[in-house]
Amino acid sequence: EETKVVIIGAGVSGLTLATFLQKSGVACVVLERRDRAYTETRQRAGVVDARAVQMFERWNMADRLLSGPVAQTIDYRLNGHSRIFEVAGEDGSPGRFCTQQMLIINLLQELIDNMAGDVRFEVTDVVIQNEEDQHPLVSYSDASGSHQIRCDYIIGCDGDRGVSRASIPQGILTRYSHEFGYAWLAALVEAPVTGNPIMGISDYGCVAQLPRGPHRSRYYLQCALSDGHEDWSDERLWNEIRLRLSDNAIENATVHDKFFVPLRSVVYAPMQYRNLFLAGDAAHLVPPASAKGMNLALFDIDILSKALLGAILDQDKTALENYSDTVLPHIWNYQDFSVWMTDMMHDAGDPGQHGTFRQMTARARLDNLFNSPTAARMHSEYQRGTN
Ligand code: APR
Repeated sequence: EETKVVIIGAGVSGLTLATFLQKSGVACVVLERRDRAYTETRQRAGVVDARAVQMFERWNMADRLLSGPVAQTIDYRLNGHSRIFEVAGEDGSPGRFCTQQMLIINLLQELIDNMAGDVRFEVTDVVIQNEEDQHPLVSYSDASGSHQIRCDYIIGCDGDRGVSRASIPQGILTRYSHEFGYAWLAALVEAPVTGNPIMGISDYGCVAQLPRGPHRSRYYLQCALSDGHEDWSDERLWNEIRLRLSDNAIENATVHDKFFVPLRSVVYAPMQYRNLFLAGDAAHLVPPASAKGMNLALFDIDILSKALLGAILDQDKTALENYSDTVLPHIWNYQDFSVWMTDMMHDAGDPGQHGTFRQMTARARLDNLFNSPTAARMHSEYQRGTN
């Protein structure tokens, strides 16, 4: 069997790329180890930033794939004291609210149901052969046996633990990483954000509440790296939310799920090797405080889709050869933003290991957002993803 592009992984990265290629008439196959129902219900990101909205608008797909505009305000709440930051944007559309699973459901519908795209679920044993000066080969197994696809390009969209990056020989990639030393507990609850999305900073640890649809929201609470489900009953969760937001009026609501994320920033460079190209979580991770995980994945796909179309439709490989060099400065810029946000939200309230010095400088940064129009403008650009 032959195709132009094999994409490994049907997350936001893989499905967005496959949809753009399919729309451009380029044959591609997506290989996904889970079933369709699983990919459609996985809960993670929630906001598509303004830059990514503009990308979908260029493809004439924004209204079909995304929901309505997000709030252009953020409540940076320090020990219960609210300060509302307004995201300013001179050009174009605001970001859109869109949970990851809603985007996945819409992409799958567009790709498979409307455009007869080729997404193969529940595949196992994906193996990549990516030799110099040869067509790459991808082999995999499914219920009907084992298969092999010859292609021109392999795109690794299979997340942090996938096979794509792991197939690259030792010594080619450099792993840059930063561990923050604490984790976040993420809890999806049956209670909407009633005012502004909240980024709460407190002496008891940080807490954020972000919208996840008309009836739900996700709370993120700083916790110890070693914490697990046994440490966090629903009762403790709600007590900590009330304590950290200094708001006793918050009532307990149903908790749909809880998971723990160690806060970590990672970049692998370069993001390509021979005919294999990495995108999204396969190439970089950001802590959730910045809400940039999905948006950086969409940035990669914006650049990579154009580069692939150039190579396949116009026989011009320049952009593809430069993919990693084009993408990485943007990734590093947003890594910096993510560290800034994460440090500000944690050190601005927590006595913690850094003592009060870091706490005071983080608080000064927060003040700066409200005192300096220049700082506010830069922060808005980061929120919108446009710088
Ligand atoms: N074979 C096939 N598929 C695989 C394999 C494998 N060996 N390993 C992983 N996958 C699949 C996973 O099941 C998953 O569906 O690859 C997909 C990777 O998806 P994500 O982890 O969501 O990665 P990505 O698409 O890059 O998402 C980037 O967007 O959705 C947000 O918050 C999310 O930060 C993430 C970002």
